[in-house]
Amino acid sequence: MKITIGSDHGAVALKDEVKMVLKEYDNMTVKDVGTFGADSVDYPDIAEAVCADVARGKSDFGIVLCGTGIGISIAANKVAGIRCALCHDVYSAKKARAHNDANVLAMGGRVIGFGPAGEIVRAFLETKFAGGRHARRVGKIMDIEKKRANVQEEILGE
Ligand code: RB5
Repeated sequence: MKITIGSDHGAVALKDEVKMVLKEYDNMTVKDVGTFGADSVDYPDIAEAVCADVARGKSDFGIVLCGTGIGISIAANKVAGIRCALCHDVYSAKKARAHNDANVLAMGGRVIGFGPAGEIVRAFLETKFAGGRHARRVGKIMDIEKKRANVQEEILGE
């Protein structure tokens, strides 16, 4: 499995912790797009770098982290093909995969402790998409994305 991970300055310590958790898995390749220090960076840039890999099929999943997880999850969901779920509990992480086929997990480094964050990552990676009626609903989400692209094209074309 290939994972691309990134955080802004608000979650560098959490990113290091999540990378330790990812070491538990065999055949796991992790690409870290930064940031690596305390200097302030803009979370949309990190979201874009992670999500580009997932959207292009270079990674199976993405993990995006910022102070709250909110800004970076909003940014991630602007990238075509991305279904990013902000999860601060295991139940949501499981449902994000089983029901929403989420391909990117977001968390907040100033919100969640290391222990719960590790459990959330494990739950996300180990839960499979349930398909069935959920596939129909996820399909409708992706239809909205396509419709939005057409509308934006029309607006820009004016
Ligand atoms: C950065 O200070 C902070 O705004 C960011 O990490 C995140 O919480 C935004 O949603």
